Amino acid sequence: MTNIKRNMIVTSALPYANGSIHMGHLVEYIQTDIWVRYQKLKGHNCFYVCAADAHGTPIMIKADEEGIKPEDLVKRISKEQYNDLNDFGVNFDNFYSTHSPENQKLAEDIFKTLKKNNHIYTKEIEQAYDEEKKMFLPDRFIKGVCPKCKSEDQYGDACENCGATYNPNELIDPFSTLSSSKPVWKKSKHYFFKLNNFEKSLKEWIKQSNLHKSISNKLSEWFEAGLQDWDISRDEPYFGFKIPGESKKYFYVWLDAPIGYLASFLNFAEKNQIEYDSYFNSESEYELFHFIGKDIVYFHTLFWPAVLEGANIRKPTSVFAHGFLTINGKKMSKSRGTFINAKTYLNLLDPSFIRYYYAAKLGPSMEDIDLNTGDFVARVNSDLIGKLINIASRCSGFINKQFNNELSETLDDFDLYNQFIEKSEDISNHFENREYSKAMREIMLLADSANRYIEEKKPWVMIKNTDQRDEVQKVCTQGINLFRILMIYLSPVIPKISDGVVELLNEKKWKWNDISQPLLGTKIKKFKPLLTRIENEKVEKMMVSSSDDKKNNSSNESNITIDDFLKIDLRVGLITQAEEIEEADKLLKLNIDLDGESRTIFAGIKSAYKTNELIGRQVVVAANLAPRKMRFGVSEGMVLAAGPGGEDIFLLSVDEGAKPGMKIK
Ligand code: 2FM
Ligand code: ZN
Repeated sequence: MTNIKRNMIVTSALPYANGSIHMGHLVEYIQTDIWVRYQKLKGHNCFYVCAADAHGTPIMIKADEEGIKPEDLVKRISKEQYNDLNDFGVNFDNFYSTHSPENQKLAEDIFKTLKKNNHIYTKEIEQAYDEEKKMFLPDRFIKGVCPKCKSEDQYGDACENCGATYNPNELIDPFSTLSSSKPVWKKSKHYFFKLNNFEKSLKEWIKQSNLHKSISNKLSEWFEAGLQDWDISRDEPYFGFKIPGESKKYFYVWLDAPIGYLASFLNFAEKNQIEYDSYFNSESEYELFHFIGKDIVYFHTLFWPAVLEGANIRKPTSVFAHGFLTINGKKMSKSRGTFINAKTYLNLLDPSFIRYYYAAKLGPSMEDIDLNTGDFVARVNSDLIGKLINIASRCSGFINKQFNNELSETLDDFDLYNQFIEKSEDISNHFENREYSKAMREIMLLADSANRYIEEKKPWVMIKNTDQRDEVQKVCTQGINLFRILMIYLSPVIPKISDGVVELLNEKKWKWNDISQPLLGTKIKKFKPLLTRIENEKVEKMMVSSSDDKKNNSSNESNITIDDFLKIDLRVGLITQAEEIEEADKLLKLNIDLDGESRTIFAGIKSAYKTNELIGRQVVVAANLAPRKMRFGVSEGMVLAAGPGGEDIFLLSVDEGAKPGMKIK
């Protein structure tokens, strides 16, 4: 690469705002963050933007279950996600939301242009519909018996047992996962995007966008199979943006999600006096890169560039896809306890460890990477502590104690210093090409040679000889300068440690080119351990807590133990008041007496009970649940009921002999 200053926008896939960040997500955010930090270190204008992916049915349903507005759910979850990512050193220039005015305006404008340019048409289609919930069901919300292998409880699009894919109308005995009712088939008008109009321009774009071989191979297969038009609308109820000119139809989440990249940048540009238009009108001077996972390549290399082309907007410069994360060779899975949340890791381990480990494993392909816990501990301890930090700890002690913190005026071995600089181009190319594992290998080879140098010189022996004092200072200054080069190279990967070294050496924030000037004749600070070894026990604890998380979080994926069940404090409660909440479809607000203690409990029983039938009734209450904030107030427990839903919800009643507050065993 030349020294010309580049202008680039870089994105990672927008996380759905309905769950926690986990170690799998982090592969992508860390991979992107390293690349962006590298570009900034090289002096380029590089902006890393992202956003909460806010729309869609699952988010709407989850908010409904919690009795809150989807907007509030998105705000809460995306804040948590942002904080977790930030704790891992992922440094966005802007983290916004697809549920934003900028995104709505962009999505509407793009849709209108696509329509004007004849890339959109409507047609009636038939879909599964839940008559109780009054909504069309996405494939993932229908289950039934697999038409091929007859295994039960399979999703509407694919069988997890035999791997068959099918249409939901082929399922045997289908049911809605929302109401358990049998779906009916109902027609409605949908908007379609004519992907087929873009075959030629997509092929052109693919040629010039330097996609990795594994992506272009996939694309050839897709072209061969023929490009299908894309359904970009959804019927109400839906959480999203209304389609212009429609009152009950919305853009499908996948239409406005990638537009969220643009909206996030627009929001950033407006806050920072950057000209948005220049980034979106010129493809040659302004670059746009998307980092994604291998599961969403179709969206980013076919739909997305075609939508941009059809709306007369520049297309991505390139798209980079990575593989999935496995844990100890196995797919991440809640039921196996190999589903590690970002928080679980953060509670026990330093984020620099995993940033380095992922870098040591990552290449530019879509191959999966494995987090092998034994290898993780060994690799990090050997490379970061044994090789890297060791250089600084061996040399800085002498400079601090024997030379009043002062580095010598000259190096002991300029040739060796130059050998470290000579590697700069290779290492730089590796970062640029996302060959991080190769970059890490080169850097660790240099660390080996720095250690060998110190080993040969043995400053701890030389210091005993007063004639050799000056040489000790030079040798240690040499060691510290070699360490400094390595830390500059590694600063995109372990930025927190490199910030510590900048401080130790009394320097200002580094640029890549700072390697050419050794640090001589200046004072350094007292060395403090920059990083300590990973303890095996902490990693084991993380794995154990992940299987505990599993027990706590995934009711349908695993069994709970009798002990877990016995933790629920079931009490007799007397309903003393019951009120309707007008804005809520399902909830009633109950006041329940537990032997003098009055609780407010929101219960989803409005469809089955009238308020006046409830007062005076004794019910079963789960009394030791943590209070939960809901849209209409805080719920301080749960009343037990059973039944399929609608009018058929039955409160569990308690014998007349029982008294409020009595424990149920
Ligand atoms: O797959 C996902 O998690 C999506 N939320 C990614 C969206 S990326 C982009 F298109 F916005
Ligand atoms: Zn099957």
